[in-house]
Amino acid sequence: MDEIGKRKKDHLDITTTGDAGYGKTTGFERYDFIHDALPEVDFDQVTCESRLLNRWFGFPLFISSMTGGHREATPVNAIIAAFCERYNLPFGVGSQRIMLEDPSTRSSFSIVRKEAPSAFIAANIGGAQLAGGMDNGQVDMLTESIRADAIIVHLNPLQELRQKDGDRRFSGIREGIRSLVSDVQVPVIVKETGAGLSESVISQLIDCGVSAFDVAGAGGTSWGRVENIRNGAGDRHFTDDWGIPTVDCLLASRELVKDRCELIASGGIRDSVDVAKSLCLGAVMAATAQPVIKAIHEGGYDGLEAMFLQWEDDFRTILCLLGCERPSDLDMIHLRRVQGR
Ligand SMILES: Cc1cc2nc3c(=O)[nH]c(=O)nc-3n(C[C@H](O)[C@H](O)[C@H](O)COP(=O)(O)O)c2cc1C
Repeated sequence: MDEIGKRKKDHLDITTTGDAGYGKTTGFERYDFIHDALPEVDFDQVTCESRLLNRWFGFPLFISSMTGGHREATPVNAIIAAFCERYNLPFGVGSQRIMLEDPSTRSSFSIVRKEAPSAFIAANIGGAQLAGGMDNGQVDMLTESIRADAIIVHLNPLQELRQKDGDRRFSGIREGIRSLVSDVQVPVIVKETGAGLSESVISQLIDCGVSAFDVAGAGGTSWGRVENIRNGAGDRHFTDDWGIPTVDCLLASRELVKDRCELIASGGIRDSVDVAKSLCLGAVMAATAQPVIKAIHEGGYDGLEAMFLQWEDDFRTILCLLGCERPSDLDMIHLRRVQGR
């Protein structure tokens, strides 16, 4: 297995079985729902249908970009794709950088379109690959291999700096994103990988024409920690806990994005309570990575489906108890700040 393939496999192993979490929390615990004893909505009336980038989905959950490029990735991607096809959920493949370096890895990505002919699938490329521009032929190759509905650009300077051979050059990424947006026909989504997007970063990238932002804030998987485990940096390095909590990312940008682009909440989304609070705080959808990979690791397709059905039932219960008929009814008025948290 080559270096990138080995790294990707380590990531899968550490995030499913290791202690790869943040010390700090997402911030969702700072809020509680305001119970509605008079909901005036029947449970059977409640719908989970949600809209993102002009498309309707079955539930407000994006399955975050995770894998591709090594042998174990193919069955995982096949499961995610079949599941998203069945429940009409959007998902992203893992970084496709490896396809540029080793075309033999293509099938671990293209499997997703075979398993999910009609699902919304996002391509994935690192910001570092865009610095200085990326040739259109390469972008076409990546998107056509999965007939992508959108392109996700991930920003992960923390992770790169903690990787022994990670990228060290970050200048030029913003202009690379600007030219990607003007060169491609599909929407561009920018995400972090768990350290969060600040208001300033989102503001700069709105100006570049980005359609949606996945804040991927701190409180869930810590990619500083994952790389510190891999590079033997010792038990606690300050970068284990570096990043902006997910809730702070949402609060900082909810006004900024209004009527201009859309916000996806991720980083530590671990149940339907987190999904619902995300929507109250301004996101149109939540996204999650680690619980998905863990459910597949422990129970395959059935494990993932069981987790989702639980989330769906819980989410409908939350909507009903807040007097909401649909996810887009969720708003800040449904939350109260918990004293002392
Ligand atoms: C096994 C694994 C592999 C990942 N690989 C990628 C990747 O290739 N590209 C990317 O944008 N994000 C990648 N991520 C980051 C996730 O998309 C997500 O932003 C991050 O893990 C925070 O979400 P979580 O707390 O729900 O895990 C990966 C996450 C996991 C768990």
